[in-house]
Amino acid sequence: MKKSILITGGAGFIGSHVVRLFVNKYPKYKIVNLDNLTYAGNLENLIDIESKENYKFLKADINNPSLIDEIFNEFQFEGVIHLAAESHVDRSISNPMEFIYTNVVGTVNLLNSSKRIWKDNYNNKLFYHISTDEVYGSIEDGGYFTEETPYEPRSPYSASKASSDHFVRAYFNTYKLPVVISNCSNNYGPNQFPEKLIPLAINNIKNNKSIPVYGKGENIRDWLYVEDHANAIDVIFHKGKTGETYNIGGNNEWKNIDLIKKLCEIMDEKLGRKAGASGKLITFVKDRAGHDLRYAIDSGKLMKALKWQPSCNFEEGLAKTVEWYLTNEKWLNNVITGDYEKYYDNQYIKR
Ligand code: NAD
Ligand code: DAU
Repeated sequence: MKKSILITGGAGFIGSHVVRLFVNKYPKYKIVNLDNLTYAGNLENLIDIESKENYKFLKADINNPSLIDEIFNEFQFEGVIHLAAESHVDRSISNPMEFIYTNVVGTVNLLNSSKRIWKDNYNNKLFYHISTDEVYGSIEDGGYFTEETPYEPRSPYSASKASSDHFVRAYFNTYKLPVVISNCSNNYGPNQFPEKLIPLAINNIKNNKSIPVYGKGENIRDWLYVEDHANAIDVIFHKGKTGETYNIGGNNEWKNIDLIKKLCEIMDEKLGRKAGASGKLITFVKDRAGHDLRYAIDSGKLMKALKWQPSCNFEEGLAKTVEWYLTNEKWLNNVITGDYEKYYDNQYIKR
């Protein structure tokens, strides 16, 4: 019989890369992708694998505990890789409740269903919770986030992810549920919804629209190519130690303004524009409320203990990402619906 693995949020950005990797690499696993297809979920991300025999998609809401229980009963999952979440910090500032329902309550619903079906036998079972470096807060005077850094979430998004991490650890301590957690830095690459900095900038540059940079563009993020994150998830799922946390990062810090200038250079070249043309679109706008200044991850534990390392160099990764958005216009146009335009206008024009 095939080993049955649940991946939640598999129609989203990172989830779709994880689903593809697992479906292709592990033909002996049955991969069930459970996703509610919110604005961020898109089955077009998975067209290339949707008819594979070891793949199944289920549209379901992790906030519906009885439905989640039914699904767990039917599929008797041995592993859960939980990515479903509300993921955009700006949306969490305007609507925190959605983040509490999905990120906190939804996670606890999945923990409860896992505990219920596994209670007689935790052997070879694993609940793997995918989290973020933002739970550690903002690291402003040098240094790096390690797995021991105390939690200090500062946005409704990071507070909801921190809370879900605490529940996952509480289920390990209280009920001995076999869990593992990873906290990753900023991902970039194909299929990211164009509300996040890099795809938003690519789309605006392409359309000669202004590129909104919050504050002075001094904030620093540590960027990791999405396939490197998916590979880390594969390694941690198979080799990670139960009860442990692993940080995942790219060791690749960029100030937002420097990153945007680099992206403008790449886009000028790809679009055959005069050098410097896209840079003229950079526009400094009102800062994000409570904007964390710097995230920086130390992934030494993962690299040493599980021998993972990122393989994609940033300039190559950015160039591949730009190329993907320019050649997948249909994907981009399909996600830029009326709702997207409304979100964009609310987010950026009222300054
Ligand atoms: P995303 O917003 O692109 O995708 C989230 C997916 O979850 C979507 O497919 C959406 O439909 C689904 N979803 C949302 N609410 C749901 C619900 N109630 N029930 C079922 N499905 C639901 O997010 P992403 O950027 O791919 O992030 C995936 C995970 O990785 C999240 O947990 C996020 O916190 C974490 N993470 C993201 C990054 C990053 O840079 N994007 C970095 C570190 C960690
Ligand atoms: O660090 C991991 C986190 O990275 C993930 O947990 C989140 O799910 C993911 O969204 C991301 O959060 P950020 O807030 O860092 O990503 P975002 O792309 O929204 O912003 C990156 C930086 O760019 C941040 O400093 C804010 C800034 N920014 C963002 C947007 C959308 C701008 O200057 N202008 C913009 O229009």
